[in-house]
Amino acid sequence: MGRLIAVSNRLPTGPNPTGGLVVALSDVLAGSGGLWVGWGGDIAEAPADRLADLGEGPFRRLAFDLTAAEVEGYYLGHANSVLWPVLHGRTDLMQIASGHLMAYKAVNGRLARMLAALVEPDDLLWVHDFHLLPLAWELRALGVENRIGLFLHTPFPAPFDLAALPNAAETCDWLMRYDLVGLQTAADLRKFRAALAAVAGADTSDDGGLVRLGRQTTRAAALPIAIDTAGFAALAEAEFGRLPPGVVKSERALIIGVDRLDYSKGLPQRFRAFAEFLARNEDWHRHVSLLQISPPTREGVAAYDAIREETEVLAGRINGAYADITWAPLRYIHRQIPRATLAGLYRAARVGLVTPLMDGMNLVAKEYVAAQDPADPGVLILSQFAGAAEQMEDALIVNPHDVEQVARAIRTALTMPPRERHRRYERLMAGLLAQDVHGWSAAFLQALGGPRPQ
Ligand code: UDP
Ligand code: G6P
Repeated sequence: MGRLIAVSNRLPTGPNPTGGLVVALSDVLAGSGGLWVGWGGDIAEAPADRLADLGEGPFRRLAFDLTAAEVEGYYLGHANSVLWPVLHGRTDLMQIASGHLMAYKAVNGRLARMLAALVEPDDLLWVHDFHLLPLAWELRALGVENRIGLFLHTPFPAPFDLAALPNAAETCDWLMRYDLVGLQTAADLRKFRAALAAVAGADTSDDGGLVRLGRQTTRAAALPIAIDTAGFAALAEAEFGRLPPGVVKSERALIIGVDRLDYSKGLPQRFRAFAEFLARNEDWHRHVSLLQISPPTREGVAAYDAIREETEVLAGRINGAYADITWAPLRYIHRQIPRATLAGLYRAARVGLVTPLMDGMNLVAKEYVAAQDPADPGVLILSQFAGAAEQMEDALIVNPHDVEQVARAIRTALTMPPRERHRRYERLMAGLLAQDVHGWSAAFLQALGGPRPQ
């Protein structure tokens, strides 16, 4: 058996990775003897054809650079201003530019050349996410015959959203060059099959997950990503003890939200729901506070600048209307917080508020549950549009667009009797222990290493 080579746009370089992909992959690769190739975050003067070896940590990391023009065209451009909105059902936010698509292809082509020089015959290549859709196509063109799998961490779009891409048919061709395409949920798998059939005319009649298009065959499967449940539970217990006394001993019930400041996360809707809850529940004034942690992300893309503006105006308005000299109902932090600190905070929070408008999985939902004190668990409020909702039916499932419904769910969560909290927590936790990140990677690699689709 050869090595496992994971490839993603984002390579963890600091002590504090953020974003579901990096977090999950760090957990998988640590101790597996594999290596991880990705963008180290550096900006280079000119495109280089060499990977920089960042050395051994828990696993070996090899970094590529991007030029400023590539960051603009490939990362902020086609990946995050075209693909991300399409994948999240927001075609209205697309900013199509042919030069950006060219940069996207060029970066993937260059990365393929660097990888082709590195791979040995038995290596398994595991490509991650929407930044690298053409990578298998590029590698095949260079004669690389290794098994190559793709895991898409985002949702898969409906056929009419996929069709809005400037290169919809070409994107389908790219996907067909993988031996395996892993998706987050059964709903994403259904959309994948429907979209490939509608947009490219693929044959999706096979019951076993095979998709055929021309001479190409790929296998598609729903393989929901997970967390290191037992490890995260232990981390939360230890970190809870390190929280400042003000957080732990607070007389006030804590509600926590943790999301990159992304329009897919539904922050304005969440804030409006919290305001609605405050308006309708005066008895809770001064007895509850929402802590919203939202680190910056993809700054410079217009839609991200706009969502920041909208979120911050609302936060100010809510505190202006309800805060008094001893209480602020909403604390909003626009900085990254270490994941270990988050673990302790989740445990201190009576309610986890996870209300994305659209989300591939949402690891925060899983982390919140794993972090709870089994003797006194909190309650998860979860959007029906997070991939996690397919597995976490014992959360309070809400429609994030329905501000009144979310406001009612906040009250239900805060007043839920201990018996019901225990019952929900125990079922959710059993699910998270049965399907953790180790099971996820083992299932993906087993499917990738199994019989070749033909
Ligand atoms: N995270 C973190 N610090 C922060 C915010 C988030 O470490 O300030 C972590 C969080 O614990 C989770 C991940 O980043 O593991 C976010 O993953 P999720 O799937 O919820 O959302 P994504 O960012 O991938 O859309
Ligand atoms: C999501 C995406 C990842 C991405 C992460 C953080 O989880 O699926 O591919 O790495 O967000 O976004 P960033 O643009 O900072 O890598």
